[in-house]
Amino acid sequence: MVDCYKLSIRGEVPLHGETFVSGGKNTSLAVVPAVLLCDEPCTIENLPDIEDIHVLYRILTHLGAKVDYNNKERRMVIDPTTVDKTAVPFAYSQQMRASYYLMGALFGRYGEAQVGYPGGCDIGSRPIDQHIKGFRLLGGEILDESGMLHIKGTLSGSIVNFDMITVGGTINVMLAAARAKGNTVLMHAAKEPHVVDVASFLNSMGANIKGAGTDTIRIKGVPHLHGTSYTVIPDQIEAGTLMIAAAATRGDVLIHGCIPTHMEALTAKLLEMGVFVNSQDDRIRVRLNKGHRSIRLTTQEYPGFPTDLQQPMSALLTRAGGTSEVIENIFDNRFKHLDEMRRMGAQVIISGKTAYIEGVPELRGAPVTATDLRGGAALVIAGLMAKGVTEVYNPDFIDRGYERLEDKLSRLGADIRRERVE
Ligand code: EPZ
Repeated sequence: MVDCYKLSIRGEVPLHGETFVSGGKNTSLAVVPAVLLCDEPCTIENLPDIEDIHVLYRILTHLGAKVDYNNKERRMVIDPTTVDKTAVPFAYSQQMRASYYLMGALFGRYGEAQVGYPGGCDIGSRPIDQHIKGFRLLGGEILDESGMLHIKGTLSGSIVNFDMITVGGTINVMLAAARAKGNTVLMHAAKEPHVVDVASFLNSMGANIKGAGTDTIRIKGVPHLHGTSYTVIPDQIEAGTLMIAAAATRGDVLIHGCIPTHMEALTAKLLEMGVFVNSQDDRIRVRLNKGHRSIRLTTQEYPGFPTDLQQPMSALLTRAGGTSEVIENIFDNRFKHLDEMRRMGAQVIISGKTAYIEGVPELRGAPVTATDLRGGAALVIAGLMAKGVTEVYNPDFIDRGYERLEDKLSRLGADIRRERVE
């Protein structure tokens, strides 16, 4: 019998004090597999202590790598020289959607990879046709074996013009191209901070990658990658979630260890709503002690407003003065959390890819269910705002991407705790 938990939140407590941002989930889920490309051991620091990283630890160990993982010190020392497999069992690859990065890393290093097609999730269909297009152009023959993607071939550089901006596709093909013979150009590339961080990590091993952070990335394949020690960047989505929670509770919070330039799309929207935001060096202060205005919010690829903060932001908008428009351009089903917020009194109308959220004077606590990672975080924020007690079921979704979110919030004064579900 698997233990079930819920997060029990008594709302209307303003968050006050100082907190910090953990290492980036989405960069770490690519940097850790990227070590498989290396000819020597590597040390990765500042890894978030989250379930998806624990799954990656188990997968690398299964592949034969020697992995010394200290989750408390957020450090993984990986020796990839003992890897003796290029197939990731379905049972593992289904535990974590981003297991697709193992395709690019294993194919890039060994000329072969077998990984289960990533599962979809509750924010919409998650195809990887662009990843596959890139692998084919680099010389990979794709064998689709009943749910397992099998790639095999001798890699040589090519020009890959993505049909849409894809973070995963950009990173995955960059991994495969790092050691491919000759030059590779990625056109229409994603520009997210974690794309830049993965390229910086590869270059710290001796790769030759230029243009990460722009829409054209140029990769000169290298025959050898040497060991390195690397610290991943902070998580801009966790930072944004904490900023939104501070505003949503009309609190005053100083967030340490973030990169304010990564937060500019959110900062601009919070300022537009009348929230006080002050960015300095590696910290951001967020304060709100009055009502906030409604806005029009459109998700776009970086540097636009990130889709991963659309859901947390929608919680804040349920109490804005006026009706907000939230347009979700990246995923085709990322409003499920709004159904749960309606149970708390939120006034929402969904029409296609737009959600119209009419601000209400207050939310009421209720039992709600998380159906995905960021939607779960949004429900926690709604619970922090609501009158009475909110119970968020399925918090394991939240644990996949946030390092003990309830601990950080309770240290800021929130009345939140994890309880076993009888
Ligand atoms: C990454 O997902 C993140 N996950 C997501 O974060 C994030 O929402 C997303 O990028 C956008 O920023 C990780 O980094 C592990 P995409 P990814 O490829 O790479 C379509 C979170 O909460 N598409 O940029 O899967 C796709 O369906 C997660 O941390 C294709 O059609 O996103 C989507 O509509 C959720 N074919 C759009 O492009 C492809 O081959 C953007 O997807 C690839 C993508």
